[in-house]
Amino acid sequence: MFSRNITDAVRISLSIPQFAEDLFQLTDRNRIFLRQWLPWLDRTRSAEDTRSFLRQQLQRFSNGEALTVTIFYKEAMAGVAGFNSIDQINGIGYVGYWLGEEFNGKGIMTAVVRDLISIGREFYALQKIDIRCATDNRRSRAIPERLAFMHEGTLRRAEKLYEKWHDHEVYAQLLEPNSEHGAPPNGGPGTQPANSKTTGGAAIGELIV
Ligand SMILES: CC(C)(COP(=O)(O)OP(=O)(O)OC[C@H]1O[C@@H](n2cnc3c(N)ncnc32)[C@H](O)[C@@H]1OP(=O)(O)O)[C@@H](O)C(=O)NCCC(=O)NCCS
Repeated sequence: MFSRNITDAVRISLSIPQFAEDLFQLTDRNRIFLRQWLPWLDRTRSAEDTRSFLRQQLQRFSNGEALTVTIFYKEAMAGVAGFNSIDQINGIGYVGYWLGEEFNGKGIMTAVVRDLISIGREFYALQKIDIRCATDNRRSRAIPERLAFMHEGTLRRAEKLYEKWHDHEVYAQLLEPNSEHGAPPNGGPGTQPANSKTTGGAAIGELIV
């Protein structure tokens, strides 16, 4: 439940607090690997920390502010991806992702991000997908480059990671409404009142299959 198959081997599932124990184990096993590029490792010390993150993300999902999915590779929990934030007014989804080291090099995240683009277009009626990577994070940058995102520019000193400053490379893809699905569920970005929370909610049910 709450999941969809992306390939024969890769499945994504809406992240729920019940995943906390397994997700913490995956995080803890990969702490050194992930800490190179992610800021939250030192704040994630127990399954309870992971559970409170998952609860918060589920709340943000229900508000249409974010989408966090857990990735399974051949039924093993492999990582996390999603829209870290959804700008409902401007129709922009900001993508984030990570995989356990043992799941790198298999094309998993490229397939997941390709699917997130479809979700962004079909279920959230987004007009733009944004991915930001530290300049030296070659593996991360390769994903938007592989998916033909446009490089929009460099943000200088965008992130301080463990006392070291990093520049960010900004990649983006503009989306057109999928003609097979007709008009976007909420009439497209910019058509909602500024304080609207609508995210194409009727269609979200189709996302959860
Ligand atoms: C960023 C990260 C998700 C990239 O993982 P990845 O395994 O390189 O990315 P993918 O899953 O898309 O796999 C691509 C790799 O699989 C290979 N591959 C195999 N089959 C493939 C396929 N069908 N399609 C695409 N690539 C395929 C590619 O050649 C590439 O390997 P290479 O770099 O050795 O050439 C991972 O390194 C990570 O989690 N890093 C730490 C956290 C992080 O940096 N997050 C991003 C912050 S902005």
